[in-house]
Amino acid sequence: MKKTVKDIDLAGKKVIERCDFNVPMKEGVITDVTRIEASLPTIEYILSQGASLILMSHLGRPKGKANPEFSMKPVADKLSEYLGKEVKFVPSDTVVDDAVRAAAAELKPGEVMLLENVRFRPEETENGAEFAKELADLAEIFVQDAFGTAHRAHSSTAGIADYIPAVSGFLIEKELKFLGEAVTDPKRPFVGIMGGAKVADKIAVIESLLEKVDTLIIGGGMAFTFLKAKGFEIGKSILDENGIDLAGDLMKKADEKGVAFMLPVDVVVADAFDNDAKSAIVAADAIPEDMMGMDIGPETSKLYGEAIKGAATVVWNGPMGVFEMPNFAAGTRAVAEALAECEGITVIGGGDSAAAVNQFGLDDKMSHISTGGGASLEFLEGKVLPGVAVIEDK
Ligand code: 3PG
Repeated sequence: MKKTVKDIDLAGKKVIERCDFNVPMKEGVITDVTRIEASLPTIEYILSQGASLILMSHLGRPKGKANPEFSMKPVADKLSEYLGKEVKFVPSDTVVDDAVRAAAAELKPGEVMLLENVRFRPEETENGAEFAKELADLAEIFVQDAFGTAHRAHSSTAGIADYIPAVSGFLIEKELKFLGEAVTDPKRPFVGIMGGAKVADKIAVIESLLEKVDTLIIGGGMAFTFLKAKGFEIGKSILDENGIDLAGDLMKKADEKGVAFMLPVDVVVADAFDNDAKSAIVAADAIPEDMMGMDIGPETSKLYGEAIKGAATVVWNGPMGVFEMPNFAAGTRAVAEALAECEGITVIGGGDSAAAVNQFGLDDKMSHISTGGGASLEFLEGKVLPGVAVIEDK
């Protein structure tokens, strides 16, 4: 068990907290506030305990250079709205400088400030010790709550813990509870659902899930590589050439382990990658030469839905089709709806499947939606996340 903010005395302390405020932005406006909202319980708790709080995060990939396009200022403004108090923002091309040190030193109990994008510093992504120390010197305690970035060993997620004590926030605690229990102590039947384009990207997580699940459901672009490995013709559907052998091996492994391995039995195909393209529903072994698979078909949705509804634990990562296009969203929607109806524990990996669940307005029907895309995948693969490893044990 990892120490959390509840295990230490915060009164009168200066706390520096790493959040994942890497939020999608369009023309300077935040388009999805999920990660900001997910960070609020820890921030509010720390402030309520009479600590002063210095927040930090990255935004995008500014490649070690100050760049106004990636400034954290819009996040400071949004946080001020949520917290109902000013979140001070002291812009600095070097993230930490004398003005920032002075602002941090002057911060009173209950007050909060946000640093500029930590990736304005080239040392950040190299886990540079000097930058980690500059950050640590601003405070007495490090709170790690950036689950979405916990798979990165960077100065602000890992190195900083070499200098001051590190505890977790409530978001990391919740992510570790749901993702951790799903893989270490799942209630059965345990159903894993994998989607997305490439088999190669998810090979490690599929391998790891095959050791644990009772049923593995495959959808999305990667399903066509599996269908190809079974000897089916897949027309113009996306194919991960390098993944064909891997897909064959995974199906063999599932068979050996007695895992029910579910592939689409029918497919929605189209003659172009376009919402308005000519489309049809065909059997999975009868995809026309000049068409491409865009979604799982209705019979597949029904079969997948039945398997999901009967599960005691479900972990879902990756959409079933091109859900961004309304004409090819039905399969992903059907899976999301089945999860919403499932009475077991439902855990959504971050990224596209989280976006799909939000898009369908089913987010409050899930047990847990991870805020980490890459981080939740690495966690499900069984890797130790460096940003979690640095948190002190109880
Ligand atoms: C994410 O959105 O996955 C995290 O914030 C990590 O971002 P990164 O992939 O740029 O390290």
